[in-house]
Amino acid sequence: MYMLKKPHAVCVPFPAQGHINPMLTLAKILHSKGFHITFVNTEFNHRRLVKSQGSYILESCSPSFQFETIPDGLPPAENLDVTQDIPLLCKFTSETCLGPFKKLLSKLNGETMTPPVSCIVSDGVMSFTLDAADELGVPEVLFWTTSAGGLLAYAHYSTLRQNGFIPLKDSDDLNNGYLDTIVDCCIPSMKGIRLKDMPTFIRSTDPDEPMVNFCIRETARANRASAIILNTFEDLEHDVLNELSSIYPCVLSIGPLHAIANNMVQKDLKLMGSSLWKVDTECLAWLDSKEADSVVYVNFGSITVMTPQQLVEFSWGLANSNQAFLWVIRPDLVTGVVPQEFLEATGQRGMLTSWCPQEKVLNHPSIGGFLTHSGWNSTIESISSGIPMICWPFFAEQQTNCWYSCNKWRIGMEIDTDVDRNQVETLVRTLMVEEKGKDMREMAMVWKKKAETPSSLLNIDKLINQILLLRS
Ligand code: UDX
Repeated sequence: MYMLKKPHAVCVPFPAQGHINPMLTLAKILHSKGFHITFVNTEFNHRRLVKSQGSYILESCSPSFQFETIPDGLPPAENLDVTQDIPLLCKFTSETCLGPFKKLLSKLNGETMTPPVSCIVSDGVMSFTLDAADELGVPEVLFWTTSAGGLLAYAHYSTLRQNGFIPLKDSDDLNNGYLDTIVDCCIPSMKGIRLKDMPTFIRSTDPDEPMVNFCIRETARANRASAIILNTFEDLEHDVLNELSSIYPCVLSIGPLHAIANNMVQKDLKLMGSSLWKVDTECLAWLDSKEADSVVYVNFGSITVMTPQQLVEFSWGLANSNQAFLWVIRPDLVTGVVPQEFLEATGQRGMLTSWCPQEKVLNHPSIGGFLTHSGWNSTIESISSGIPMICWPFFAEQQTNCWYSCNKWRIGMEIDTDVDRNQVETLVRTLMVEEKGKDMREMAMVWKKKAETPSSLLNIDKLINQILLLRS
């Protein structure tokens, strides 16, 4: 009976690793604050989660934390170790998921042992859920898992279009310097930002580019939410958060969530992981054998793909830098393998693995720098561990995160898209052994300190009060 009185949050992540992780962390925090949680994965990702975590772990943690699934609408896929195509997921989830989601909500509301649904916490790019929340008469919180800067940049796609900056006039615009155009007239809080720092979907000559239209639609629909939450903190993105607050009614920064959860979430729930790949923990023992700040951690996240030639350039850049490295090569990162001579040349100095416990790795004392794709989770995890970065952004708003890391927060250095082994070697050495790297490490420690912010804790409480108020 006691359980039936709990508020019940239905959490719906976008079906990709970088979205599931922060949503599950938030769900655990809400659970620790007394919520009953239903966490809704796509069928495909739930199969992956069961494969990597084990169904026992997912189901046994707490009776008030349950998993449900809906189909993603994509044709069936057998290989569970591969990231699904993101533009296709955006198209299919927005076109097909509302019906199954509404069905799920009415099933939940019909269960005698489950409290009635009191709010929906949905990923910002799963805004079809707003229609279900309206129909049910419950509040909805939209969780944009990007940086605040990333969300603001997407929200200004329409301004860029109105001002004629996009679509590109000609495909040559990709290489003729046009992307260096400064577009801060459109986005006042991003002084000096160029087209090339905007999320990559604008790099198209198509006036009806589906991903640009998708982002314009999702950022406009966000106005209907009771609150918009972001995994960032006030000191880090103050100006952008202010500008967002002038666009949307209630914007709350509640990060870094993983760090907040560490002090809040009950022990059993901490065991419940969200990795879609099997995690190799042996790399932690290997890191134990290394000196403080001596290892560069290399990981390009869950979506990046690179060409075999880029893999070779990174390999030789790392080998020639003479620094120790832990390199995570996801099974679907590249079609190709690192050169045999590279493995012989680096020996004990390097360790390769396919998926690691990233938060633990970034907090390990032997890690001195991070070669990253600038995904937002990786960036905020690196910031809250005080680790400076070399950035090789791949797509979406990773370019915007890279721009902030390098130009505003002064904790990053960018590598050209057209990666070359000499540049990798130089930047890795700069990061790990030179004065500039030391300065960046000091700056990263300043941000780490600022990340221990009480304002996000207050905002989490504010969010919860708002949800509870609106449901009553
Ligand atoms: C990215 C962006 O972050 C997202 O904002 C954008 O819209 C799409 O692309 P992703 O490539 O998944 O997503 O990167 P990231 O945001 O850094 O998330 C990866 C997550 O997986 C992190 O939480 C990281 O800790 C975790 N991870 C990654 C591991 O636990 N182990 C690994 O080996 C690699």
